[in-house]
Amino acid sequence: MRFFKRAVRSTQRRAVKLVLPNPRPGHGEYSMIYDTLNTCGGPSDYLIDLALRAAHEAWHTELPDLSRRIDAESHDFTRVWPGEHYRLLAALVKLLQPERVLEIGTFRGLSALALKKFLPSAGKIVTFDLVPWDSLSDTCLRPEDFADNRLRQQIGDLSDAAVFELHRSLIQQTELLFVDGPKDGVFECKLLQQLETVDFHKPLLLVIDDIRFWNMLTVWQDIARPKLDLTSFGHWSGTGLVEWHSGTNSEKLK
Ligand SMILES: C[S@@+](CC[C@H](N)C(=O)[O-])C[C@H]1O[C@@H](n2cnc3c(N)ncnc32)[C@H](O)[C@@H]1O
Repeated sequence: MRFFKRAVRSTQRRAVKLVLPNPRPGHGEYSMIYDTLNTCGGPSDYLIDLALRAAHEAWHTELPDLSRRIDAESHDFTRVWPGEHYRLLAALVKLLQPERVLEIGTFRGLSALALKKFLPSAGKIVTFDLVPWDSLSDTCLRPEDFADNRLRQQIGDLSDAAVFELHRSLIQQTELLFVDGPKDGVFECKLLQQLETVDFHKPLLLVIDDIRFWNMLTVWQDIARPKLDLTSFGHWSGTGLVEWHSGTNSEKLK
């Protein structure tokens, strides 16, 4: 079923590219825009306030220590804002001071490092991937990033119910969850279904990357919770905020 859904979406994308060629050079992705009439969820006062503050904070936040991890020949995306999400992620942690952060999609480690930058001293980040960070030749992570036990990588697929169950208590404690995994629309859909079963201990802010990708449109549109598309102040491919579990979220910003 998963394979079938992926195949349909990938065929759709290829077909659209044939009919509608990219109107300008550069990396472009097909997307769709929707009116507000049949959209579920919508921004809460809390999310609007948080987004405005986070955008302001990101504007004035620099991440030179991340830039230093990038070799001279590569493009330094951590400096780019708006357009990339690193400064926004750092700003969200600066504002919310979450003690438990969970990330899905470690890759080269740049978002984990951005999330760690302003983490409170008692804070911890667990970053999930299917690939160990030190197996990537171009990783930006170093062994010392894990030395204080505030950053840990976990190998596992949280869309798998058994894996999710194994980490349920970790997930229950999470206050900021950054989802930047396969973005095939299937993983994210399963993950969101699993999250529905969690009794979170504290308010949870969900940050979802790539919400404007073709595969992710339904996932984002179907979230029936307070949510805000913050793409203009996040990643060009789409950055969504979801107030997953409100509790006393607004108290944290005062
Ligand atoms: C776009 S990269 C993440 C980029 C990183 N968050 C950043 O902003 O620098 C996506 C990552 O998700 C990982 N991934 C793919 N499927 C996954 C899954 N089911 N669970 C966890 N990670 C997954 C890939 O191995 C890849 O490293």
